Amino acid sequence: MEKRSISFSPPDISDLEIAEVCEALRSGWITTGPRTKLLERRLAAYIETGKNDIDCSTQEAISKYSQRVVCLNSATAAEELNLRILGIKEGDEVIVPAYTYTASASAAIHCGAKVVFVDIQKDGDKTTHAPEMDYEALEAAITEKTKAIIPVDLGGIVCDYERIFEIVERKKSLFTSVESDGTSLGDLSSRIQKAIGRVAVVCDAAHALGASRDFRGERKYVGAITDFTSFSFHAVKNFTTAEGGASTWLPISGVDNAEIYKMFQLLSLHGQNKDALAKSKVGAWEYDIIGPWYKCNMTDIMAAIGLRQLDRYLGLLERRAEIMAQYDRTCDELGISHLVHHTEDMDSSNHLYLIRIPGIDVEKRNLIIEKMAECGVSTNVHYKPLPMMTAYGKNCSNYPNAYHYYHNLITLPFHTLLSDEDVEYVCDCLKCVCRKFCS
Ligand SMILES: Cc1ncc(COP(=O)(O)O)c(C=O)c1O
Repeated sequence: MEKRSISFSPPDISDLEIAEVCEALRSGWITTGPRTKLLERRLAAYIETGKNDIDCSTQEAISKYSQRVVCLNSATAAEELNLRILGIKEGDEVIVPAYTYTASASAAIHCGAKVVFVDIQKDGDKTTHAPEMDYEALEAAITEKTKAIIPVDLGGIVCDYERIFEIVERKKSLFTSVESDGTSLGDLSSRIQKAIGRVAVVCDAAHALGASRDFRGERKYVGAITDFTSFSFHAVKNFTTAEGGASTWLPISGVDNAEIYKMFQLLSLHGQNKDALAKSKVGAWEYDIIGPWYKCNMTDIMAAIGLRQLDRYLGLLERRAEIMAQYDRTCDELGISHLVHHTEDMDSSNHLYLIRIPGIDVEKRNLIIEKMAECGVSTNVHYKPLPMMTAYGKNCSNYPNAYHYYHNLITLPFHTLLSDEDVEYVCDCLKCVCRKFCS
């Protein structure tokens, strides 16, 4: 067979995104502005309905979908701001699965909290094979200091939130909310913690825009399930704004949604009480700095990419499903375990295609990655467990299931620039390499 060059996850950017970016550049408004606000409303509508074509420029849509999603410059920033708004600070504990990317944990560390890792289920969830937390270990890890849990919808597969919420409800008596420190942020955090009244569930949905799951008798999209959610729009994600991300949250009883949105704006823009748009009004130059905060807003150039990606997103998800079906057939034929992205009660966002090859060790796994690369096929590993990393102590002995999951794992190239022939080529290479090196 003729050698092909298959990259791992290039962005799918069409002429539509390019034209919209040019429009944004020509418009004279390139930082946070009208395109970012429109993208926020359209994402809010998508998360609520699963529809990507709701006209969000009408007055009705503006009042319905404004101030429910905040677009930012990354998922890491989104997660950190979620935790800051929740008042997570030094002395608090935040529970994170051992099997994830550093951003799931580092955002909590930036807030001064202690990260408590929890191992995953042996070989992952029984149905989806996703590396979900061991829920018994999660329950046991909750202490009086625990303020948040960060479940990760890895690869786009939605965690068992029914179970996670049962756990945090059961552990409610251990929870004490933070008292206000008298600042506007501290006051808001205290009211939010009091209203939630238990450990907060702050989903890392970096991979999961558009994924959904049955929850409390209804189909819900990720973003409309947990207390707070962060999405990533990084270049390798299904939906991209080059870099970028977004936060969303569920309505909190007794706390005005506009106040939460406003606090996100302040936190993401230096704590400055007027953004560039407000300052551009005649004579409205003066502003105050409420807190010495962060700079992580989305620009309208990024939002321009996002608006056209969102137009195309359902089609992109469908194409990913077609590729997945071809991969599933090959893996089943080879006896290789793979993620199951769709079940009766869950539809993933089809983000990553993880496979685990039975009977091989780490060296053999790495050899297979090398041999695939020699065939021109880029693969990857999602993830080396966090406790194995230098920053997290380089010791995975307390997380044997995470290590076991990782040791024979390979991530196949999975993106919408793959042609059917490319996918067939990847499958043929996998068959050839596995038959040669795995017997
Ligand atoms: C699970 C997970 N969480 C968070 C992030 C961080 O996303 P971003 O690069 O947008 O900050 C990533 C990025 O790959 C991720 O894989």
